[in-house]
Amino acid sequence: MTPLKDTFGRVHDNLRISVTDRCNIRCFYCMPEEGVKFFAREDVLSFEEIEKFVRAAVPLGITKLRLTGGEPLVRRDLPTLIRNLTAIPGIRDIALTTNAVLLEQHAEALRDAGLQRLNIHLDTLDREKFHKITRRDDLPKVMAGIDAAVRAGFRIKMNIVAVKGLIEPDIVPMARYCRERGFEPRYIEFMPLDAQSLWDRQQVLSADDMIAMISREIGPLEPVPDADPRAPATEYRYLDGGGTVGFIASVTKPFCLNCNRIRLTSDGKLRYCLFAIDEMDVKGLLRSGAGDAEIQAAIRQNVADKWLGHEINSVKFVPPPRPMYAIGG
Ligand code: 5AD
Ligand code: SF4
Repeated sequence: MTPLKDTFGRVHDNLRISVTDRCNIRCFYCMPEEGVKFFAREDVLSFEEIEKFVRAAVPLGITKLRLTGGEPLVRRDLPTLIRNLTAIPGIRDIALTTNAVLLEQHAEALRDAGLQRLNIHLDTLDREKFHKITRRDDLPKVMAGIDAAVRAGFRIKMNIVAVKGLIEPDIVPMARYCRERGFEPRYIEFMPLDAQSLWDRQQVLSADDMIAMISREIGPLEPVPDADPRAPATEYRYLDGGGTVGFIASVTKPFCLNCNRIRLTSDGKLRYCLFAIDEMDVKGLLRSGAGDAEIQAAIRQNVADKWLGHEINSVKFVPPPRPMYAIGG
């Protein structure tokens, strides 16, 4: 089959699957503090439906999967889904993004199911600050989850959301912590995807500012020469060989030109961009017994509809109707 190409020639091989919109913590840049309206359970895709979708997507060239949420580990039996997805011929890589609150219980089972890579969302090593950001006092659980993941043998990246006026004191300690433990930190510029529309440009801590802070306090960084141009993070490395540091500069240096991703939400909508306004329903197809050809046609159409890039930096920008937890990141 011809590869999944959009009208700008970008080939898509990467599918992000949100397995639930529920979460056990309440990071302010994603969720409201109270009264979150989650999808009704019957609107959430079953494992069988997700697997059917992925089997249809593989012949189009999808080889890499990332499972996201909300918090994916609140979905019961997640290792079973991972085992089944790993078994689909053509799937070469599966990763998971988690807040690690439940990781201590599940790390071993996830590894046994075939998962190799974890992105752990953690902004700070300070318990009070963690509580303030997430509105939950769960830092000790996260730390236990990280230790369990290390014991289970995972490669770990740390997602740090860079909110100006809040996170500056944590940038360097997080980098040091990751350097000591052999994790890659990934600093993500704060994006307009929070549920309460709190975002504004003044609150974005830029990748350049963070690179300067880390270079000054820990040691000089240089761009990794042979980094994967399709990856959203710009990779840097310490000159002294102390590891790599990634920056996701979605706001100050959008990387849309290299986009190779599509997204399936937990309620069965296909999205060609984090910031897409329009989405395509595939749950109806999956539930009406559609064959692979129909699902593939929907995927092709969604990719064909893809725009050149988000317009965060334009006056035309309209934030998407879904906040982060309902998209999956
Ligand atoms: N801006 C940037 N990153 C965010 N995340 C959640 N909300 C935002 C936001 N508003 C990150 C978290 C999560 C990942 C999927 O996206 O780190 O792990
Ligand atoms: Fe939960 Fe992740 Fe959103 Fe935080 S960013 S509230 S961990 S879904």
